[in-house]
Amino acid sequence: MESAEIARRYLRYFEQNGHTVVPSASLIAEDPTLLLVPAGMVPFKPYFLAQRTPPAKRMTSCQKCVRTPDIEEVGKTTRHATFFQMLGNFSIGDYFKEQAIPFAWELLTRSQSDGGFGFPEEKLWVTVLHDDDESAEIWHKDVGVPMDRIQRRGLADNFWHMGVPGPGGPCSEIYYDRGPEHGREGGPEADEDRYLEVWNLVFMQYQLGKVRSKVDFDIAGDLPAKNIDTGMGLERMAILLQGVDNIYEVDTMWKVLDRAAQLTDSRYGANENDDVSLRVVADHVRAGMMLVADGIIPSNEGRGYVLRRILRRAVRKLRLLGGQERGMMHELTATAIAAMGDQYPELVRTAANIHTVIDAEEESFARTLRTGESIFDVAVQESKGSGREVVGGADAFKLHDTYGFPIELTLEMAAEQGLTVDEEGFRRLMKEQRERAKRDAREKKTGNADVSVLGDLLERAGGTIDFLGYRDFTAEARVLGILVNGANVTEAAQGAEVEVVLDRTPFYAEGGGQLADHGVIRFMGGAEVEVTDVQSPMTGLIVHRGRVRSGLARSGDTVLAEIDVSRRKAISRSHTATHMVHKGFRAALGESAAQAGSENSPGRFRFDFTASGAVPPSVLRDVEAEVNEVLIDDLEVRAFTTSQTEAVAMGAMALFGEKYGDEVRVVEVGDYSRELCGGTHVGTSGQLGLIKLLGESSIGAGVRRIEALVGMDAFRFLARESVLVAQLSDQVKARREELPERVAGLVTRLREAEKDLERLRAEQVLAASAGLAEGARDVNGIAFVGHRAPDGTGADDLRRLAVDVRSRLQGRPSVVMVAGVPKDRPVVVIAVDERARELGRKAGKLVSLAARTLGGGGGGKDDLAQGGGSDAGKIAEALNVVEHAVGAE
Ligand code: SER
Repeated sequence: MESAEIARRYLRYFEQNGHTVVPSASLIAEDPTLLLVPAGMVPFKPYFLAQRTPPAKRMTSCQKCVRTPDIEEVGKTTRHATFFQMLGNFSIGDYFKEQAIPFAWELLTRSQSDGGFGFPEEKLWVTVLHDDDESAEIWHKDVGVPMDRIQRRGLADNFWHMGVPGPGGPCSEIYYDRGPEHGREGGPEADEDRYLEVWNLVFMQYQLGKVRSKVDFDIAGDLPAKNIDTGMGLERMAILLQGVDNIYEVDTMWKVLDRAAQLTDSRYGANENDDVSLRVVADHVRAGMMLVADGIIPSNEGRGYVLRRILRRAVRKLRLLGGQERGMMHELTATAIAAMGDQYPELVRTAANIHTVIDAEEESFARTLRTGESIFDVAVQESKGSGREVVGGADAFKLHDTYGFPIELTLEMAAEQGLTVDEEGFRRLMKEQRERAKRDAREKKTGNADVSVLGDLLERAGGTIDFLGYRDFTAEARVLGILVNGANVTEAAQGAEVEVVLDRTPFYAEGGGQLADHGVIRFMGGAEVEVTDVQSPMTGLIVHRGRVRSGLARSGDTVLAEIDVSRRKAISRSHTATHMVHKGFRAALGESAAQAGSENSPGRFRFDFTASGAVPPSVLRDVEAEVNEVLIDDLEVRAFTTSQTEAVAMGAMALFGEKYGDEVRVVEVGDYSRELCGGTHVGTSGQLGLIKLLGESSIGAGVRRIEALVGMDAFRFLARESVLVAQLSDQVKARREELPERVAGLVTRLREAEKDLERLRAEQVLAASAGLAEGARDVNGIAFVGHRAPDGTGADDLRRLAVDVRSRLQGRPSVVMVAGVPKDRPVVVIAVDERARELGRKAGKLVSLAARTLGGGGGGKDDLAQGGGSDAGKIAEALNVVEHAVGAE
């Protein structure tokens, strides 16, 4: 049974049992406690916590998930994957275990011809939490599972929570016995490879407080209702239903694995090491593709780092398999897109963009991989040579910082050599910069507030705060909460830094690339809070940050919230301009020029997008001209909401990471651009006045950045340029249109003059040469010249002189030393001819003697060497030292 069919059957079964099918959410978790979605229940968490009203009480989904804590295990076991899909059925205060258990049993055991999975009952084992008699009874009495196939296990196996405060509960798992060839008898308790876990039924009933570990946590209380969360790994089911040995051999993975074997000329099954590498490649390519498809770009932080690690690990495994050529990731990604495209049509739609990002990451890593590996090899030799079994933290840091080796890769490479890495040293070096970055990001989003305080406020607002700012610049509202240092307070006095939550607001919270509104909140009691930042730390919540400018700000008060209108208008101009420029680049460069981030600030915007190379200046000029022409057409800018499907059908550019299935907001600029967007915009394109692109640059592999000005800022920039041109034209005495030619002429003449000067100086230096050769002293049978050139003679000239004098002494063993002070430090050059070299006089050695005298260092080859120092007063002494050394036997 194909993977896609497994998913279809599951969803259909639960749909027939009254569940609403909910499409998968993006892998980018909305939940501020998570980087990526690691479980099917994540999008349902706000419903379990009653923070939001669910669209239905019974729901079912096939959710994309990524987990990386076990990344080292990928390829080595039957069942570890970084990307996987979790099928689940959810009850929000509707049915509980008495129904969830029979549902699961029926679907698993119902015959395939009848829409089920057709598992023989005697192959199935179940587990329950040790004292959960209730579940054991349902399994035994209602379902008919014999007592000896019901095992009781502890918290580590049969209690599920998210590792952080939130929902949790006991669970019951269903295992399939793959037979004695896969391991020991004795049920899941004895062997989890033979007995493969296929389904986890979680009885979500508790609200967890502190979570110290998997088995050590506080239960803060009951959830508002008893809920069901179940998770069935789609890939694990595929192992069983496709009769393969492990997760890497199921249909969607196998195609990639097989292609990887072809490309690297290796054979799956030939040896364990290669098999593991092939499995890792198959898993990682698939995971990388899915992460990129949800809009993640490789970087050194957060989700981007997870993606980078995965892609780089795949590239290295390909090299280990003998795949040296670049471009393999492209081939494999194409295979993965084809394998998964049926289930995820957006992969096919955005294939060009996925390729751009993955190809660029492969390319940038391939460039440094070999050098990095050499550095690593040297470090390994050094540690082995000195009898240590540890690669130094500084080496690991250098590999990370300069050569882009994720630390996990270095650890893995060291382990392959039987070594460890001084991780503590590495982490120490990384710590400062990392922590700062993390702190900045977190503080920006959630401030000091505890997530649960924010959750309470959101609940008080009924799950969402009305944003009125598309229409209104001021609004009357009620204060739901005031936070000082993260704690909810009843009032805050003048001067206090506060976070204010209102029940409705015209303030736009930073998001979608648009900066936050500024403004003021006027309390009816007389207080004023000046707002300098607005964030949305949780979906639906809007938090105003600022300072109490005067009076006493009281929670519960009625207020007048007023945004700074001119700032907002300038930001809106930037935002509309970004849409137009985005459209312009897509028209010029193709669909793969997808937006990868933007920032819309007053009068200025920047716009990042994926592209495989630099954008030619001609394209920049054309796009700029095009969008300015469209401005003049004064197109109407319109925003409306519609379904995701409808928006895509209309050709709206969907940025990645939208939640599928949601109502979406579309912003269109006439017929020119149409994009999904939650931001604010101008009324007609003419209001932008003027757009000026300042240029483009690279901000990482495959990502380009355009910076631009809009409105009066664009005008002022051009006006300034115009003044500059006038000044130049005045200075070089040429008309504007003649400027390029005049400047080019001046540059050519300057270059020629410099060359003449150089030639004259060299002649002057060499003029001394004949005299110096004549004055050579005989030092123990060697002709020695020691000379101090006039101060200011450059190092090149010193070298030229030494070599020239040496050539004039031909026939005799000779050593020529020329010293000088090109700028403020002494430099010495020594040239030794072949016969003197045979007598043991080496330029490199002599130079280091001289340089040491001068308080510095240097060296070089036997025939010619250069050194320097810091004490020009010692030149005479250095000449003596060298002469003495030349004379010594
Ligand atoms: N939350 C549970 C899990 O992830 C069941 O969906 O295993």
